[in-house]
Amino acid sequence: MPAKTLFDAYTLGPNHLKNRIVMAPLTRSRACKGDVPGEMNAEYYEQRAGAGLIISEATQVSKQGQGYLWTPGIYTPEQIAGWKKVVNAIHNYDGKVFLQMWHVGRISHTTLQPNGAAPISSTDKAAENSFSFAYDSDGKPANIPTSKPRNATLDELKQVIADYARAARYSQQAGFDGAEVHGANGYLFDQFLNSAVNERTDDYGRQTKESRTRLLLETYDAVAAVLGPDRVGVRISPFGVFGGMPRDPNVEETFLYLAEQLSKRRAVYVHIVRGSQFDPEPVVPESFFRKFRDAFNGTIIITGGLDREKADHLLQAGLADLLGFGMLYISNPDLVERFQHNWPLNPADPATLYGGGAKGYTDYPTYQEQTAHRDVPSPLDIH
Ligand code: PHB
Repeated sequence: MPAKTLFDAYTLGPNHLKNRIVMAPLTRSRACKGDVPGEMNAEYYEQRAGAGLIISEATQVSKQGQGYLWTPGIYTPEQIAGWKKVVNAIHNYDGKVFLQMWHVGRISHTTLQPNGAAPISSTDKAAENSFSFAYDSDGKPANIPTSKPRNATLDELKQVIADYARAARYSQQAGFDGAEVHGANGYLFDQFLNSAVNERTDDYGRQTKESRTRLLLETYDAVAAVLGPDRVGVRISPFGVFGGMPRDPNVEETFLYLAEQLSKRRAVYVHIVRGSQFDPEPVVPESFFRKFRDAFNGTIIITGGLDREKADHLLQAGLADLLGFGMLYISNPDLVERFQHNWPLNPADPATLYGGGAKGYTDYPTYQEQTAHRDVPSPLDIH
């Protein structure tokens, strides 16, 4: 057998991917009024449609699920129409796209919540050192500490599951090729999975692996009932510290049980965050990736601080099938071609990651554009 490469085509359930390179989900906070994706967002995704699979930026399934201003939603007809433009643009270039469906739980602020309520969680303790992008006391958009949450009622958890099922139907109407349930990075499901955060003692409580994983698995089942399990993946971040997550002594037990359960359900993939998006040092030990591989029989995507060499290593070691790139995709819309030809990579400008317009969003050139117009300033010259 020839060695696997990032450029191999790959079959992901019913979806044919042209290569093993995934554009990772990236919050860019540039949705239009009503948290609706617009033309500029469609152009941005279209520029990156060379990826085998695009996973959309995190998208709230309800107003309650929002933790940052200007992130897109998937709960109104206008949002479905906006996403249709994005999906069509990607499909025009033979790309595939999954919608990342998001509920932030306690990583929110009362000024973003319906009726100014406290955000819901598995605890009434606020996340440490964590910020929401919301309205400050002068009513101005600002990075401010998250609000103190409250423990969700059982009816509210039912509502979250129903909101995910609705998001799945809406994603289908928008034409997405599948959906990813965001179970990572300290957001709602992670708050239930982590036994050092979850303070409940009911069926969704901290006490057993079954109770900690129940909310995520019931949500998975509701989404898979709409789209089919071969179009639904799950993102997780075992050992992750983003979002004020403390070390969890039960991390392996929880996540290996989740792997088994998602295998049984024939989940099309699990997407593992290897480390923080802002720190290339991985937090997931390679020995855990091996155990996870043995416990889960579907596709594995690994993302977080990867470069080409690290991605190749994970592929050759048999630990991942698809490899995700986030930061590199922001500033290299033609990342696949750059890898293929060993062309140099552009650095991303940290000042334009979130919010704003086309600058630092749709104006990063392809390598060919960059070299054809050397007299025109490009991000390469600026940095
Ligand atoms: C963010 O908006 O900062 C963000 C969103 C989703 C993630 C991580 C970070 O998974």
